[in-house]
Amino acid sequence: MDIHYIGKRFIDLYENGGNTMFFFSPCRVNLIGEHTDYNGGYVFPCALSLGTYAAARKRNDGLMRFASGNFPKRAAADITDLSYKTEDGWANYLKGVALEFQKAGYKIGGMDIYIEGDIPNGAGLSSSASVELLMGAALNSLFNCGMDRLEMVKLCQRAENGYMGVNCGVMDQYAVGMGKTDCALLLDCGKLTHEYVPLQLKGCKLIISDTNKRRKLADSAYNTRRAECERAVRDLRAKYDINLLCELSEEAFNVDKGLIKNEVDRRRAAHAIAENARTVKAVEYLKIGDLAAFGSLMNQSHISLRDLYEVTGPELDAMAEAAWQAPGVLGSRMTGAGFGGCTVTLVKEADSDAFISHTGRQYQKHTGLSPMFYTADVGDGAKRIYN
Ligand code: GLA
Repeated sequence: MDIHYIGKRFIDLYENGGNTMFFFSPCRVNLIGEHTDYNGGYVFPCALSLGTYAAARKRNDGLMRFASGNFPKRAAADITDLSYKTEDGWANYLKGVALEFQKAGYKIGGMDIYIEGDIPNGAGLSSSASVELLMGAALNSLFNCGMDRLEMVKLCQRAENGYMGVNCGVMDQYAVGMGKTDCALLLDCGKLTHEYVPLQLKGCKLIISDTNKRRKLADSAYNTRRAECERAVRDLRAKYDINLLCELSEEAFNVDKGLIKNEVDRRRAAHAIAENARTVKAVEYLKIGDLAAFGSLMNQSHISLRDLYEVTGPELDAMAEAAWQAPGVLGSRMTGAGFGGCTVTLVKEADSDAFISHTGRQYQKHTGLSPMFYTADVGDGAKRIYN
């Protein structure tokens, strides 16, 4: 996909003329640090070169018109009423961001926008954050809002939480908004600061395996997990002055985990706190080029998400287990919320074809589903693109 194609589709749908701008917004994959963001911990995602493109142009009449190459239904709204409407379907993601711009005091007007993406839908690669930041970048440029990146990231998260009703943490919007080519971000979700870490993979590459088992974040056990973690914090507050689980060290947790009354909550907390420490350690290994140690922590992360946090499910487990047996694999784990979606695997480049055929065969044998494989090229965050 390129901007000539997007531009042509735009002109086919809307009349020609005016100053049309083009934007790209990636999807993301998280390498390690899962279900730690809303616990105030570390995550280690990167933006991919797969994503969503847009062509957009201002209108003078306060009307917003939305069209997508991925969904047949078009939608429109006046900027004086950007409220959520079920019948607007996918366009609600864009309207939600526009409404948040207004709430934050930015003056925006009408626009025509066409979007199209190549992100597998519902695969846990954050197509929703991609679309939100795409709209954020478009509004920011079209209406000269001068909004800084971090504000846009937070604003898009608010749109997802409040408007779309999905109680996600900040990781997805942050990675999509702040990604950088060939780097992953070590993001401290408690402080909202990040460090770019070059992905020097030395003859290895990242492959994303889509289970083709679809999940819907809003319907899943995601909110239950958040509530379990919050309950664990309340119990730990009998001794510790903390607001979020990852404020507690692994050592302190091991001494005082008995304060958490419910056994299930205790296991959830054990995952979040250990995963947080694992993430920091994994990044240290990456920095010194010890990819084998990095990969082994990826495996441990999956096992913890399977046994303690219980968000994997048969498809993700089958995919990870198939990968662990495949040639050239240094590490493999589920990525994103879980309950379906994708795994991410670090594999020797020379073995990548053998990895795909082995994993694909085994996965299909165990689940009856046909997987898809993508090479993860690491790209930039949401941005305006020029012809
Ligand atoms: C989803 C959410 C993120 C994060 C992950 C789990 O992708 O949108 O905020 O919580 O799940 O790590």
